[in-house]
Amino acid sequence: MGTPSLSNRGELAFSTPLRVDYDAHSEALGNLYHPQDNPQGVIPLNVAENTLSWSDLRHRISRLTAEAQIPDWVPGYTSMLGAPDFRAAAASFLEKHLTTCTLDPDQLGVSAGATSVIEMTSFILADSGDVAVIPAPCYPVYKQDIGNMSGMERYDLITHHELSEIRGGPSLSIADLERAQTEIKRAGKRFRMLILTNPDNPTGGIYSHQQLLKCTNWCIDHGIHLVVNEIYGLSLINTKHSVIREDYTEDTVFCSFANIMQAKQSDLLHLWYAFSKDLGISGLRVGLVYSQNEAFIRAYGNVNLSHTVSNYTQWVLQLLMSDTDFMSSYVANNCERLTESYAVVIRHLKELRIPYVPARGSLFTWLDLSELLVEDTSAAEHDLWLDLYRSAGVLLTPGEGFGHSKKGLFRLVYPCVSKHDLGTAMDRLSGFVLKKRQDES
Ligand SMILES: Cc1ncc(COP(=O)(O)O)c(C=O)c1O
Repeated sequence: MGTPSLSNRGELAFSTPLRVDYDAHSEALGNLYHPQDNPQGVIPLNVAENTLSWSDLRHRISRLTAEAQIPDWVPGYTSMLGAPDFRAAAASFLEKHLTTCTLDPDQLGVSAGATSVIEMTSFILADSGDVAVIPAPCYPVYKQDIGNMSGMERYDLITHHELSEIRGGPSLSIADLERAQTEIKRAGKRFRMLILTNPDNPTGGIYSHQQLLKCTNWCIDHGIHLVVNEIYGLSLINTKHSVIREDYTEDTVFCSFANIMQAKQSDLLHLWYAFSKDLGISGLRVGLVYSQNEAFIRAYGNVNLSHTVSNYTQWVLQLLMSDTDFMSSYVANNCERLTESYAVVIRHLKELRIPYVPARGSLFTWLDLSELLVEDTSAAEHDLWLDLYRSAGVLLTPGEGFGHSKKGLFRLVYPCVSKHDLGTAMDRLSGFVLKKRQDES
């Protein structure tokens, strides 16, 4: 049914839910699990949030803001790229913890979360109908983030089918990029941008320095923008943990794309970061883009006004990031907690012999329940997802929307609940899978 009061864009927004699991999540929030008060309640493991370290951060933020006086730049307008003091603190923080190479604060742009940064970047670099290539499976909302304002389209680049093919990490090759380039040209379109998420959402894999370098050289040779999204760059798993260590045969370490950017000095290379995941503060809405492209940064400052972050928030984060000893221990403790929770998931999946991709970072486990599908279709995947939610009270995200070829894959977010509640969710998942197997035999 049409909605004549809306524009065509509004009509599309009206009829396109942001995510397939949104309604179920809203419903789940009204019936949340609690060990004593609501033991039959739902445990949603579908929204990419990390709540494991918030209590540490809350105490520190409360103390820092109580001890400091709000600076005079907070109540007024400031640079549309982000407050200079904040950008300086962000550059130092990222240099120390993420990039390990120097960053020029003048080449940073700050917007309301990674979502805004992705939208602004696409708006400035792409024209309507241009194509962004993203290896599949990928963060589903890229489609809207790159498309809503700029009209850029998403091309899901399938590099594998079975999870076993990416156990060692993402399998993106130059041949894959060439194939995408040929197909996009054949469709009369322009391959404008390659987007990589590192560590990856949903697989948790890490691109090696060599892989990134090869992609960079290829993109530069072909005049294509390469953007690496390091929103999970500090959420790394300790692969030496006893429960999971046998999953890792190679020693791939995370290396920030900033190092390659520094070496290449190209207008085509850009880095995204946000504090939403590594610091578990998605509600503060702070994202960053780093680019050595002067024209890009100038344009960014001219169109970012509706996407800016409140100065008060920038100030609070600036205080936090400048507390270097605290932040160092925060990052280390957070990774330890992530690893402990991740190990809970993997212990169960190993026991059940459910295939998964060994993660090196991010907040996810990407797992394969295709053995339980009644047929190899998206509809069957959707039914299985709802069945798990309705009968076991565990809400995952189904593979639909991630752009991958295989059906029956699901994303599980492990640090969005306590380790105890995660254990309960995994026990329920185990019960569900065992019962299904029994019913089928
Ligand atoms: C890869 C990726 N990019 C961007 C976002 C959006 O982040 P933000 O909340 O900072 O807008 C997410 C959130 O899940 C994500 O996983």
